Amino acid sequence: MQPKKQHVLLLIWLFLCSSTAVDLELVAGVTIILSSNIFFYFRELPTPFRLNSPGLQTDLDNKMFGQHIASSIIFKAVNGFMSNTNSNKPLVLSLHGWTGTGKNVMSRLIAESIYTNGMKSRFVHLFTATLHFPHRHMIDTYKSQLQQWVRGNVTNCELSMFIFDEMDKMHPGLIDSIKPYLDYHDNLDGVSYGKSIFIFLSNAGGDIITNTALEFRKAGKYREEITLKDLEETLSLSVFNNQNGGFFHTGLIDKNLVDFFVPFLPLEYEHVVQCAMAEMRARNLEPNHDVANMVARDMVYSPKPEKLFSSTGCKTVQHKLNFYR
Ligand SMILES: Nc1ncnc2c1ncn2[C@@H]1O[C@H](COP(=O)(O)OP(=O)(O)OP(=O)(O)O)[C@@H](O)[C@H]1O
Ligand SMILES: *[C@@H]1O[C@H](CO)[C@@H](O)[C@H](O)[C@H]1NC(C)=O
Ligand SMILES: [Mg+2]
Repeated sequence: MQPKKQHVLLLIWLFLCSSTAVDLELVAGVTIILSSNIFFYFRELPTPFRLNSPGLQTDLDNKMFGQHIASSIIFKAVNGFMSNTNSNKPLVLSLHGWTGTGKNVMSRLIAESIYTNGMKSRFVHLFTATLHFPHRHMIDTYKSQLQQWVRGNVTNCELSMFIFDEMDKMHPGLIDSIKPYLDYHDNLDGVSYGKSIFIFLSNAGGDIITNTALEFRKAGKYREEITLKDLEETLSLSVFNNQNGGFFHTGLIDKNLVDFFVPFLPLEYEHVVQCAMAEMRARNLEPNHDVANMVARDMVYSPKPEKLFSSTGCKTVQHKLNFYR
């Protein structure tokens, strides 16, 4: 533990991320500036990230099921990045896996470990390909828009987080517009991106991850024996060469700007049970194993003939639960 370092970080963030709030509230008079500013510190201060953060680790242990590789990479990556005071490259994570395996949950847990308001923080920006960048013919507009947003927001707060969801539906080429920001620089036009976090989410590579998980099972090995090494290289290659994805031949991968490719394993029956139990707890219902088993039995499992992995992960658990209560 290095309390001094934490203090320095806290001061840096106070300084970096509070200036805009003051600007916005200038009109409202001095007293309001003072009071709202104090309020602001409590409301929206990025919580000082404790080194070896028990917060993130506990969340990963209790809320993230069946993802031993992803949990361990994410903890090391985020913890390491947050305790480095002079990083000159943002942290770039690319999360891959089948639908419903926990990619959005993971980005939420990361956000909650850093910002008091988690995903609702003003410093967390979520872009969804089909929502924010739907039309192919507008790609040039999107490119400059995206650059402006990223630059503008990092100017306001160096410790900003950008999440790009549905990367596989993103038009190839668009993401390259932010490439310069992801590289090593002390600063770029006076803005330094070294404290920001970029997270990409996609289903690309899901089949490769599933095949690897299946091979391990067939060889009689445990799921927990799968390591990042078994997946990382094939994963980045397949993503790079997938013509339908936002990563197609992107400079992000070419230039090694993605720090970690994080595989999300397909979820099995027991994980669906865990999801259902967690969901009941979240709804303040008495967790009931029989109900959880009914939900899990109701899911579709693939691939044939083994039928080991839930086709939708834990995604439909919430709705199915309504059925059995
Ligand atoms: N590994 C997991 N641990 C705990 N809960 C999970 C996990 N995977 C999925 N869930 C549950 O299922 C829901 C859907 O998961 P999530 O949105 O994270 O999936 P995703 O990987 O982003 O899928 P998609 O690729 O379809 O966007 C979550 O709200 C959560 O309740
Ligand atoms: C920050 O990003 C949001 C999108 O999340 C955008 O609407 C806003 O204009 C950006 N702010 C600046 C100052 O560029
Ligand atoms: Mg998702």
